[in-house]
Amino acid sequence: MKLVIITKTKLTTKPISTSFKKITQREIESVFLLEAESSENPWTKNQLSASVSNPNNLCYALLVNSKIVGYIVAMLAVDSADILNVAVHKDFKRNGYGSSLISHLSEELYCRNIKTIFLEVRRGNLAAISLYLSLGFEEISLRKNYYSKNSNGLSIKEDGIIMRLEIST
Ligand SMILES: CC(C)(COP(=O)(O)OP(=O)(O)OC[C@H]1O[C@@H](n2cnc3c(N)ncnc32)[C@H](O)[C@@H]1OP(=O)(O)O)[C@@H](O)C(=O)NCCC(=O)NCCS
Repeated sequence: MKLVIITKTKLTTKPISTSFKKITQREIESVFLLEAESSENPWTKNQLSASVSNPNNLCYALLVNSKIVGYIVAMLAVDSADILNVAVHKDFKRNGYGSSLISHLSEELYCRNIKTIFLEVRRGNLAAISLYLSLGFEEISLRKNYYSKNSNGLSIKEDGIIMRLEIST
């Protein structure tokens, strides 16, 4: 006689839950570790901490299954805002999280009646430029030789590109 054993298999794929959270001083350490692992020119812990303390700034973390995987910092002006930094952890890039952070910021700004976003990006930061273009940002001006970067021990200059987005509903 043949014995057939039927086992019930459980689905092991965990559902992904994402959420946004205003960054406070409690999250600085996690955000700093993320920043250090994601960016070529990471902000220091002091820069992060000062940004979070600044009442003119909006700082949001993106959490995936309760882990901070990305963050964004923007400075508010009267009728516009400047994105000062946005980063996604290296293990989570190309999953749409950078876009989600900017979309979330745009919604928050729109609620405050702010409909224009500016930012500046190094010409060589192709990932970031592609992200901004994919969201509708346009290049509006150039800061020639604005940044310095080290390449094989040589200090070379790099342009800064200024971009703008008009937020629509
Ligand atoms: C820039 C950054 C935030 C993008 O985050 P991300 O979560 O990977 O971006 P998304 O997954 O939302 O990408 C959306 C779109 O942007 C473009 N894009 C993003 N990264 C790209 C890359 N490395 N190369 C080409 N295009 C890219 C693509 O069009 C992408 O859509 P697709 O994946 O469907 O092709 C991330 O690379 C990062 O943290 N970089 C280091 C920090 C930094 O440079 N910040 C910018 C400071 S100005």
